[in-house]
Amino acid sequence: MLDISIKTSEYIVKNNVRDFIKENSNDYRLDKIDEFYKNFYDMVVTNREETLDIWFNKYLDSGDIKKYFSMGTDNLLKGKVINGIAKSGYGRLLRNINFDKMYRTKKLYHDDKEFVIGMMEVLFRDFKIRNSLVGPAFFKGILNKDINGFWSAFMMTCSTPSVFNPYTFKFILENFFNGKKLFCPVLGWNSYQLAFHNTTWEEFVGTDVIPEVVDNGKVLYDYYLKTIDNKFFDFQKQNVKNYLCPSEKFDINGYEEYFDGVLFSPPYYNLEIYDSEHQSIDTFPKYEDWLDGYWETTVSKCYDVLKKGKRFGFLIRDYLDRELNKVRISEDMKKVVEKYFVLIDVYQVKWGARKLARTPEKMRNGNYENFYLFEKK
Ligand SMILES: C[S@@+](CC[C@H](N)C(=O)[O-])C[C@H]1O[C@@H](n2cnc3c(N)ncnc32)[C@H](O)[C@@H]1O
Repeated sequence: MLDISIKTSEYIVKNNVRDFIKENSNDYRLDKIDEFYKNFYDMVVTNREETLDIWFNKYLDSGDIKKYFSMGTDNLLKGKVINGIAKSGYGRLLRNINFDKMYRTKKLYHDDKEFVIGMMEVLFRDFKIRNSLVGPAFFKGILNKDINGFWSAFMMTCSTPSVFNPYTFKFILENFFNGKKLFCPVLGWNSYQLAFHNTTWEEFVGTDVIPEVVDNGKVLYDYYLKTIDNKFFDFQKQNVKNYLCPSEKFDINGYEEYFDGVLFSPPYYNLEIYDSEHQSIDTFPKYEDWLDGYWETTVSKCYDVLKKGKRFGFLIRDYLDRELNKVRISEDMKKVVEKYFVLIDVYQVKWGARKLARTPEKMRNGNYENFYLFEKK
């Protein structure tokens, strides 16, 4: 599963563990260092398969597939806030089918070394770990052979991509939209399609530029077909068509005024850098060009394919760039959409707390995104 003969990541070693601890503190860790080395060796060499199994079970094991196609219904709306945390476990199936691409996602810059698969290669091939992973609490975990705890700490230090909770998408689609035909100009790790399979919508059309994600639309569809095997003969089968194509180049021929809804969370300019060709950030590295060439072109195509009186919704939030400057992407993107559609309302979606040190205080307690809802008049 993890091919460590391929080098996709690397980082510079400043110190070995023993010297690092000697230089930085003078606590119990020095007396226990040999035991630490021995346990660490067992973990990443002798028992590496078991170590990776624990990782798989913790993050990717999806269990019985049926449950992903029989999501219930809860009210997630309180005032103007949609609860995005409820039943986020449904995202597991998406991680399971997309883990390779997902865990190669970088944050903010192309030379980000902290993506999960890269950090794993470095761990299992070169036996390197980050400073933060030899802090007192983590050190104790290794002494106690707590592999589960090891993985929690390890994943905390990595760039991990956001996954749109399919349960939230289903709620939004069912409560703010109506119709049968849905268009999604990105596939969001197949989350939107999974949500769609849990609704009475009949047709899903999407575009994305990651070939594996486009292909996984078929994997998901096959799962869906299996789960409806024993439904009655008058049961209407849903249709899915996913295109491998940048949305700004999507050929709308045959889809003019065809769809009843457009709903998605676009790439956030350079916040997450996905591992494929034709990513919007690569085609349009400059922010102004991106807003124009990627965003406005995509929005205008959405306008053309949407029926009159139907809705366009997208989710976005501002973020901090490498220099910790705020990128006010929400307002800019909203302004572009207002050139085409009429704003109906603005909601917030509350996701789980964010973990990174660079995350502003305000976002650590709750991480909100704007959900802008528009209509084609
Ligand atoms: C993962 S989603 C959105 C992220 C969002 N925060 C979420 O949680 O759903 C972003 C997607 O946009 C896709 N993408 C990037 N550039 C694109 C383009 N030009 N056309 C279509 N899809 C694109 C990426 O491949 C990725 O699948």
